[in-house]
Amino acid sequence: MCGIVGYIGTQNAKEILLRGLEKLEYRGYDSAGIATRDEQGVTVTKAQGRIAELRKETEKAGDGSTGIGHTRWATHGVPNYDNSHPHQSSSKRFTIVHNGVIENYEELQQAYIPNVELKSDTDTEVIVQLVEHFSNEGLSTEDAFTKVISLLHGSYALGLLDSEDSETIYVAKNKSPLLVGIGNGFNVIASDALAMIQVTSEYKELKDQEIVLVQRDSVVIKDLEGNHIDRESYTAEIDASDAEKGVYSHYMLKEIHEQPAVMRRIIQEYQDEEGNLKIDPEIIKDVHEADRIYIIAAGTSYHAGLVGKEFLEKWAGVPTEVHVSSEFVYNTPLLSEKPLFIYISQSGETADSRAVLVETTKLGHKSLTITNVAGSTLSREADHTLLLHAGPEIAVASTKAYTAQIAVLSILSQVVAKEHGREADIDLLRELAKVTTAIETIVDDAPKMEQIATDFLKTTRNAFFIGRTMDYNVSLEGALKLKEISYIQAEGFAGGELKHGTIALIEDGTPVIALATQEGVNLSIRGNVKEVVARGANPCIISMEGLEKEGDTYVIPHVYDLLTPLVSVVSLQLISYYAALHRDLDVDKPRNLAKSVTVE
Ligand code: G6P
Repeated sequence: MCGIVGYIGTQNAKEILLRGLEKLEYRGYDSAGIATRDEQGVTVTKAQGRIAELRKETEKAGDGSTGIGHTRWATHGVPNYDNSHPHQSSSKRFTIVHNGVIENYEELQQAYIPNVELKSDTDTEVIVQLVEHFSNEGLSTEDAFTKVISLLHGSYALGLLDSEDSETIYVAKNKSPLLVGIGNGFNVIASDALAMIQVTSEYKELKDQEIVLVQRDSVVIKDLEGNHIDRESYTAEIDASDAEKGVYSHYMLKEIHEQPAVMRRIIQEYQDEEGNLKIDPEIIKDVHEADRIYIIAAGTSYHAGLVGKEFLEKWAGVPTEVHVSSEFVYNTPLLSEKPLFIYISQSGETADSRAVLVETTKLGHKSLTITNVAGSTLSREADHTLLLHAGPEIAVASTKAYTAQIAVLSILSQVVAKEHGREADIDLLRELAKVTTAIETIVDDAPKMEQIATDFLKTTRNAFFIGRTMDYNVSLEGALKLKEISYIQAEGFAGGELKHGTIALIEDGTPVIALATQEGVNLSIRGNVKEVVARGANPCIISMEGLEKEGDTYVIPHVYDLLTPLVSVVSLQLISYYAALHRDLDVDKPRNLAKSVTVE
């Protein structure tokens, strides 16, 4: 989703901003722009499409050593030049970049600037015009900015330049992520540390509705009343090379290949010196004391939650519900007496999930975030955090975060089970090691997955994924992966449900990808395959060693039955990857999607 960078120092800001925006490309965007300030004033350069387009445009831009930049994922107004950021006030004195959605921008426009002619359809332009309005009324830029912040309702991360002040970038945030990076003789702002990790690894978190004056040699943080706030900085532990593609043609392929290494890292991180699985005892206590767990998540993380529910119920013995965050926040179910909320989020920034966390915290309920990003909003605001240790995930389609989420949930459930005397029927560490080897086998079989993509998905308009029990959960994720990057209309169904409606869509040659890795339902899922074959479907059966039958398309190595999602999904990730590749699509940056969805 939208991304912000800013730089104030002594070097050429343009190149630093462009490189920062390139690092934010993975979040998803449809236009981009920068504003740089030199002795002549502020120059704004924008372009629809990719940063590469913006780069071409900026050849004419000035060489200032202060600037702000933005990637825009359209919310208000189509993705065209006028709606791209930065936006300027009528006199061009003020220039702004904004992430988020201002809910009351029309009211504010009517109340304060009804006669100002707006050039764009965006809520953002109203913000910058309001700053100019209050500045024209005699307020200093800081006071005008503070006044505007106090009026805004909604989510925002903002960076503002004043062409009459070469010393400051004015910064504020509410609900949307924004960090200040601390340098030697320069400072930066960024939506996430990854964007500016090339120039600094030291960051300060910003809290909602603080006013931050970022200057070359100082960062001043104030509350809305003007009181100064001290904030320690922290070191972002990101290896800059983790964010590079290396030998892979796409981030998605790299991240699929990294899954065995991520499994090993998780096994290591969640083990004590004696080789036993470990989780913070406070978390175990909260899980144990909960009478019900509510997993809140979106997209792929929601699918990981569906698998996690099975572990929490079957191993830890805690009743668990899984909810889509954007629904839960407006349609909260009747809660149990002592709930624990588990937020699953790769980015830790998903606005829908954060909206639920804000509400459940108000109600006094305990919370645990499972995330890949230390210091992310959901991590900071929850009572506890479990990290995924998956390394930066750049491709919009989530792969290694999904398997990492499932692995961490399995460890959490087993540790809770063990601590509370529930009989463990597996040695999880041993089973996860087997899973790791099984993932390696599938990754090595990538050419076979490519062949499956060719045989089943090359020209099709649609595809169905079916499975029962654990396989049903994975079929949902398989379908999501395929539609996200190949734009093939794909749906996942419970094997038994297809005949209650969707089977009407099966035509001659319709691909149906069936997962058959669960012993207890092996015969029934194969029965469902027969039903669709009888209607002309082209079946692709992915089964597991020990359950395979002649004619199965691919057989994954044998792993413990509840852990099969960690393995079977990898074949589906690769099949989706190749299906998109064969269609010549932008695998890492699919249309309309954003990696980090920071608006509700
Ligand atoms: C976006 C991404 C998905 C992701 C979802 C939830 O829609 O495109 O890949 O699963 O957000 O994101 P989170 O960071 O909360 O896991």
